[in-house]
Amino acid sequence: MSKIRHLISIDDLSRQDIEYILKKADNFVEVAKGKKSLKILSGKILANLFFEPSTRTRMSFETAMKRLGGDVINLGSLEATSLAKGESLADTLRVVQQYADCIVLRHQREGSARFASQICSVPVINAGDGAGQHPTQTLLDLYTIRMEAKLKNLKIAMVGDLKYSRTVHSLIKALALFNAEIYLVSPELLKLPEEILEVDARFIESDLKTAIDEVDVLYVTRIQKERFPDEEEYRKVAGSYKITSDMIEGKDVVVMHPLPRVDEIAYDVDRLKNAVYFKQAFYGVPVRMAILSEVMS
Ligand code: CP
Repeated sequence: MSKIRHLISIDDLSRQDIEYILKKADNFVEVAKGKKSLKILSGKILANLFFEPSTRTRMSFETAMKRLGGDVINLGSLEATSLAKGESLADTLRVVQQYADCIVLRHQREGSARFASQICSVPVINAGDGAGQHPTQTLLDLYTIRMEAKLKNLKIAMVGDLKYSRTVHSLIKALALFNAEIYLVSPELLKLPEEILEVDARFIESDLKTAIDEVDVLYVTRIQKERFPDEEEYRKVAGSYKITSDMIEGKDVVVMHPLPRVDEIAYDVDRLKNAVYFKQAFYGVPVRMAILSEVMS
């Protein structure tokens, strides 16, 4: 496996690279829980640059870094930075790399992370670029599937906003490497874009009930309201699907969600053993530890 310098797109990783990172994450689970100490990033500084809201990605990177002995600097609110005075993203990156050993970037513009990796001398990790990619989410999703279901001979249903959800786009590309069968369950207006359908994977158009009976994993997504061209388009699909406990209780299917959820999974699902989305959020820590230690070692 070649050394991973930046992590920009899941397309940059082979199946072997992915398996290597997932295996490496196994070593960090107890550290992520705080039960074991491993200060391998002592003296290193991570810069978190988030131009869009985030809870899980930002905080799990911070947890991963600190549990491994490193430190974190945050851009904070944009109004409190010199971006508010008109400083460009490029100049901000050129400056921040003077202070940190690695940059984690979330930005609304597709391609921003690739651009950052081309101008920065420190490793850049894409934490989501618009409707583009979110590769660290994909890796933690794969880790969750491996831990809570299976990666071999997997049948998985992508449910909900398949048009705008970058986590779905990245995950499908990765699952194609593992020969998964991918069921597509979405309202007409939120169907998977043509370019993702061109991925060499086995796709099956399905309804929710059939999918629940046939798949190992339901990967549910929020409707990405912020990516719609206007409010009227959003209203046409808002609330058009919802997973409730009576639909899945006693069935051999696990429910994943990258979170945040709005109303697409009822709260009464949380009590079922099928619900693994909070564990999924935890797995973000050991997986991001594996990535950070890889790019900064
Ligand atoms: N799943 C995810 O990316 O969550 P955040 O937007 O809270 O980081």
